[in-house]
Amino acid sequence: MMSTDSIAEPVVAIVVAAGSGSRLGAAVPKALVPIAGVSLLRRSLTQLAAGGAQQAIVVVPADEVDAFDADLGEAPLPTRRVIGGAQRQDSVAAGLAVLPELLGEADGVILIHDAARAFVPADVVGRVSDAVRAGAPAVIPVTAVTDTIREVDDLGSRVIDRTRLRGVQTPQGFRRSIIEDAHAALAETGTPVTDDAAAVEYTGNEVALVDGDALAFKITTPLDLLLARAVAEGRP
Ligand code: CTP
Ligand code: MG
Repeated sequence: MMSTDSIAEPVVAIVVAAGSGSRLGAAVPKALVPIAGVSLLRRSLTQLAAGGAQQAIVVVPADEVDAFDADLGEAPLPTRRVIGGAQRQDSVAAGLAVLPELLGEADGVILIHDAARAFVPADVVGRVSDAVRAGAPAVIPVTAVTDTIREVDDLGSRVIDRTRLRGVQTPQGFRRSIIEDAHAALAETGTPVTDDAAAVEYTGNEVALVDGDALAFKITTPLDLLLARAVAEGRP
């Protein structure tokens, strides 16, 4: 029988939205860009809530606090807003720093999500947190790579067997203590990482993979925005 503890275990999402969105080049911060009237940030929060997140910590740029607070007024779950940093890793660390206020000493499942992956299906969110609950210290959603990939260096270039490659999406899920320890260790040595699973590997923990979904694509360029609008409008 499942213990009531594990049923009651909190699921907290940290949504990083503090980037500059330079590749998109929109007039407003990327996470506030509306798709059919709803911002990327609010779409992400809705999907996370549908997948089981109970509260969210939203990490925003220092110079856009008022605009983000206005958008968060219509958030679909309880949120705390904090200011991010220069690198994504700094923004995640700022979000993690709020966990003691939300959870005290309690353990929990922490989902770290890019606001820019606004259409992540609730199924993906659920698979990630279920795998953490089942005992994995760190879980990432992945998809097969469809392009042929070449590695390029000073000696020339060569194709890489793409059947061995996976694209990594978010939310990435962690047991609270694992991700807190990983970020603390990185901060101590000043080691940069490109995602949170890499942070956990740095401290010697294994990362489990679950199926991601093409809909969890990251809105990065103007072309991605066209795709996002088509998805929101249900266009074939
Ligand atoms: N992010 C963040 N803090 C940073 C950098 C990125 O919170 N210092 C967040 C972004 O807001 C985004 C996610 O990390 O939701 C993934 O980053 P990316 O898609 O690269 O967004 P940006 O960094 O904003 O875009 P760009 O790299 O084109 O400037
Ligand atoms: Mg970036």
